[in-house]
Amino acid sequence: MHKLTVPTLKELRTRTSEKWREYSADVLPLFVAEMDFALAEPIAEALTAAIRRSDTGYAGAGSTLPDAFAAFAERRWNWRVDPAQVSTTTDVSVVIVESLRLAIASGDGVVINPPVYAPFFDLVAEAGGRVVEVPLLPPEGSATEGWALDLDGLEAAFAAGARAYLLCSPHNPVGLVHSAEQLTAVAELAARYDVTVISDEIHAPLTHSTTNFTPFLSVSDAAREHGITAASASKAWNLAGLKCAMFVTASQRMSRLLSALPEEVHFRTSLFGRIAATAAFTEGEPWLDAALEAIESNAALLASLLDERMPRIRYRAPRASYLAWLDFRALDWGNDPSVRALSRARVALNPGPTFGTQGRGFARLNFACSPDTLTEAITRLAAAG
Ligand SMILES: Cc1ncc(COP(=O)(O)O)c(C=O)c1O
Repeated sequence: MHKLTVPTLKELRTRTSEKWREYSADVLPLFVAEMDFALAEPIAEALTAAIRRSDTGYAGAGSTLPDAFAAFAERRWNWRVDPAQVSTTTDVSVVIVESLRLAIASGDGVVINPPVYAPFFDLVAEAGGRVVEVPLLPPEGSATEGWALDLDGLEAAFAAGARAYLLCSPHNPVGLVHSAEQLTAVAELAARYDVTVISDEIHAPLTHSTTNFTPFLSVSDAAREHGITAASASKAWNLAGLKCAMFVTASQRMSRLLSALPEEVHFRTSLFGRIAATAAFTEGEPWLDAALEAIESNAALLASLLDERMPRIRYRAPRASYLAWLDFRALDWGNDPSVRALSRARVALNPGPTFGTQGRGFARLNFACSPDTLTEAITRLAAAG
């Protein structure tokens, strides 16, 4: 097994990315979805080699990323991707906005499932759409043991005229990995009401070892006829600053829709992002498995720390990724517990209400850090309670 390196806090504070520049050095930053682990060696080598040969121009034709992603998807998820139906752009947000622009007319409804990745609200607006909320069913109200998609709510929204559905799969912030059955039901509804499904699968490679991830486009012909997947190596290998993501389709119908994209949308891909993503999908699995081991171990550590020191916080271990959706409602920390976390504990969390009104009384915590940092953060939060 590959050995993962976690730099010290002093080393991490020399980074210049959002996570390490937003707050002063006395704050433990457990907010934005960046990981603390050192970059995977094959990615670092590929980027260093590119710099050495001054390979810093445009990302044009001749990419091997589609083949690398297709091989990864088959190995990892048994999903057959046609490399000819994979194209790139700058990031997943751009995949979402540009796909929506083609799928909807101005003012059309686009369904999202709050609490959900906060920028979804803005991305729908940027594409000219109108947000239609179909909240996730909370654990208390769902027939399953955890959070779940509200299929009846989705059908009602589609029947009322929504034209697209922005599916977060796996779901950020609750870490829900949708089942093949649920995704098949979503695809059937999409076909019945002629809704385009954009499946944001950025967190998919980070699905925990105890759970199977199902790619939306693998579930049925209905999914392939109505779905576009947004994929990227950026979350799983911590490459967000390098700017590269993929549109993936699996039908003539959807690839024809995307053929209307301006060539410039593809041309804006970063060459460094493409080089890094190709190395990640080709040679990055040992590092990914080590990262997942660290993440799953931290998920368990978080559960025991909360149990011991903040037992009134409710937390369900995510089935994917490194984000914990913490329910502070039994504590007197108000609508936005991140305010008190920052002011009294000097721990930066993401404010729950930015994920939708359903996030009142919640905060999101990023545990892709060392066990020591996580322990220190919960110790500080407990002292602020
Ligand atoms: C679900 C989801 N989609 C999209 C993004 C943003 O991706 P990108 O930086 O490629 O636009 C994130 C970032 O955390 C995310 O969690």
